[in-house]
This record gives sequence, structure tokens and C-alpha cells, in this order.
Amino acid sequence: MIVLKTSRELAVMRKAGIISQRALRLAGSMVEPGVSTWEIDKEVRRYIESQRAKPSFLGYDGYPASTCISVNHVVIHGIPKKSVILQEGDIVGIDVGAQYEGFHGDNAWTFPCGKISGEAQALLDATEKALFLAIEKARPGSRLGDIGHTVQEYVEARSYSVVREFTGHGVGADMHEDPSVPNYGTPGRGVRLTAGMVIAIEPMINLGRREIEVKPDGWTVVTKDGSLSAHFEHTVAITPNGPVILTLPD
Ligand code: MF3
Ligand code: CO
Repeated sequence: MIVLKTSRELAVMRKAGIISQRALRLAGSMVEPGVSTWEIDKEVRRYIESQRAKPSFLGYDGYPASTCISVNHVVIHGIPKKSVILQEGDIVGIDVGAQYEGFHGDNAWTFPCGKISGEAQALLDATEKALFLAIEKARPGSRLGDIGHTVQEYVEARSYSVVREFTGHGVGADMHEDPSVPNYGTPGRGVRLTAGMVIAIEPMINLGRREIEVKPDGWTVVTKDGSLSAHFEHTVAITPNGPVILTLPD
């Protein structure tokens, strides 16, 4: 069931979104060689809690941390650890959500650690661009297939591949609501978007093949071929005036 949000609820979701975005920026500012993903997670948790908010991920289905930090061939859901030390040239996907006054924000960005290869930078650029092209389609009258197709067409034209087993999702009082928002699809097909819907759009794009594998810890998702993977995400409200990115300042 898709839950529509009132404008009053959207105003609260905007606050949750801003806290999520500041938490993500803080995390990104800590990305440098020698830093452990555990240290980043610890600071993010401290920040979110200082805002009278709660880390959305902590305890979700038993998830043990406040962020997911996914390095290089890790696609998503990398668990922060003292033993994961960032190195020059890594690409570092950080995903974080905050719950504020009952509503969630959810966002992710893939940050370069120091100087990265041209190949890695091109993957980040394409994934970010695909996200923003898809956000443009998040308006009343569009369908979910338009969003998915936009991502798929842009990245496949550059011979990257779209992860299919994980998708974006509705966001609200629950972090994961209906509908699911795939990063592939057929234009004109799927659920029609209406004002009041809030969705997280989150392309997960691999440099190599699209197949993924889940590690024995039950969380860590990696590319099967070991190729690099990028992940960018915003929480977006569908309004009569078009898309409003809740995880960015006005
Ligand atoms: N934020 C992720 C998403 O975009 C999921 C978070 S991991 C979990 O859907 F631990 F919270 F499940
Ligand atoms: Co999400």
C-alpha cells in the first residue's frame, strides 16, 4: 500500500531529510586514507542523536550500525568495522538515514578516497548523473517504469550494469514503504506517480557485470565479478510542482 503524505508531513520529512543529508556530508568529510569505516559510523551516530533524531538503520532487521559503508566492489550494506581502513584510490559508498519526529530520510553518496582512477571517477559521475536524470522524472503523471528506464538507459549506454536484486523504495513513517523503485524498466509502465508520494531513488551501478552475491554475514552485497560498484540516493517528494529532493537544502 502506498501511503501519501500531507504537506504537514512533508515539512517534517524535509527536516528528517536535512538531518540525513548533514550526516552524509559529515561522513563524506571523514573519507581519507587511514580512517576506519567504524570511526565514520561512530561520528554519524553521534551527530544524528545530537539532533534529537535516531539512526534509521541501527537495529533494522538486526543491522548493527548507523550507516552502511561499502568500499570498491561492495555494492551496498557494507557493515562499518574497525578492521576496514580506507586507502588512497578507494571508492566509498556511504548510506545513512535518520528518523525525526516519526519520519525517515534516506540518502547515499559514493565518495572518492584521495586520488582515484579515471575509470572509477567515470563510474561515479555516470551513477550520480543517472540519479539526477531519474529524479527529473519523479513528477505526477510519470510512471515507475519511466524512472527505472531513465537510469538503465543512461548507464547501459556507457556499458555499466544495473543491479536488479535491490531497488529504491517508498519512504515515510517506515524507512521502506511501497512502492519498490527499480533502476530498470519500460517507459509508460508501472505505478503512476501522484502528488504526496515520497520515494528513495537509489541506482546501484556496476562497472562490470550486474550479478551480485550476499556475503555469509547476511548483509554485505558484493559484485560477483569483483568489479567496482557505485551507489547514490536521494529521498524525493512528488509534488504538483515537480520533484522536491528532501535530502537537500531548499
Ligand atoms: N538505506 C538502505 C536503503 O536504501 C537500507 C539500509 S540497510 C539496513 O534501503 F540495515 F537498514 F537495512
Ligand atoms: Co534507501
